[in-house]
Amino acid sequence: MTDMTDYQPTDAAFAVDRDCKTLSRHVLEQLQSFSPDAQDLSALMNRIALAGKLIARHLSRAGLMESVLGFTGETNVQGEAVKKMDVYANNVFISVFKQSGLVCRLASEEMDQPYYIPENCPIGRYTLLYDPIDGSSNIDIDLSIGSIFSIRRQTGDDLDQSAQDLLQDGHQQLAAGYILYGPSTMLVYTLGQGVHAFTLDPSLGEFILAAENIRVPSHGPTYSVNEGNFWQWDDAIRDFTRYVHRHEGYSARYSGALVADFHRILLQGGVFLYPGTVKKPEGKLRLLYESAPLAMLIEQAGGRASTGIQPILDVVPTELHQRTPLIIGSTEDVALVESFIYDHSRRQNRDDG
Ligand code: AHG
Ligand code: MN
Ligand code: MN
Repeated sequence: MTDMTDYQPTDAAFAVDRDCKTLSRHVLEQLQSFSPDAQDLSALMNRIALAGKLIARHLSRAGLMESVLGFTGETNVQGEAVKKMDVYANNVFISVFKQSGLVCRLASEEMDQPYYIPENCPIGRYTLLYDPIDGSSNIDIDLSIGSIFSIRRQTGDDLDQSAQDLLQDGHQQLAAGYILYGPSTMLVYTLGQGVHAFTLDPSLGEFILAAENIRVPSHGPTYSVNEGNFWQWDDAIRDFTRYVHRHEGYSARYSGALVADFHRILLQGGVFLYPGTVKKPEGKLRLLYESAPLAMLIEQAGGRASTGIQPILDVVPTELHQRTPLIIGSTEDVALVESFIYDHSRRQNRDDG
């Protein structure tokens, strides 16, 4: 019988232990509890992980199958052309949550009104808000895309299905995160106790812990913005862009998928911005299922997310698909963008006398 008292973990033992750090185990460890709420959150995260696996699998074979890529020919509530993958992913989330008994409704970028699961509403204690595929313009060219999710507690029974109780600030989020479908599939989440990343091991069908308590650097070299909109921006944003053009140490990176650009900044620092434009004065990105979940993540990682005027998490929406300008990333880099906005508004006030 081997004496195990002086057992030193070898690489093999380490590898086994690491492979056992699955998402559901991590959620329960995070909450250090087996309470009903903790069990709920673990079950919710497991359902999200299942959705991510199903979408990742479909994406990996998209180019080999009929009618997976391309457009449906429909236009969604956002006024955007809908991709077949948007619809597929939207339905995957509905399917994995329908029988879960956990949620009362699902609010999606792709649906004008939330999808209600009536038999769950009396007991469904949560609402899932999600962007089923973020970065849809990248689907047909096999570049990185993502899914973004936010979980809020159900307050009231919403029997009139007006979903008014969803119109609350981002501090009400219980959990938030995204799945990044890149060279590997990663799931990044927070329950309000740090930001943690998992990598999908397709051979196990499990998301395995990759990084815990991720901290965004206070500054980074990346600025991520679509400079094709330069002519549509306020002068403040134009002056910020001129500043990074003229100062050494900045690199432009912009993929067309918010999740991919955000992931780079979360790990390496910098700032992503989608400011208001002439055509979209409130910006393009949606508050409840794009900006607010990423704002929760970045603040949990020690960074910031702002509209340029106020913290994203403080914004109280007036409607489900409300858009908001987004400046998100390292504290110093977000502050730099805000300084141009602040200087311009001071000059404007002075000129207005
Ligand atoms: P979605 O595919 O969910 O509509 O999101 C696309 C968003 C975001 O992912 C990205 O940062 C931004 O649109 C890109 O917009 P532009 O093409 O206007 O730069
Ligand atoms: Mn999106
Ligand atoms: Mn989308």
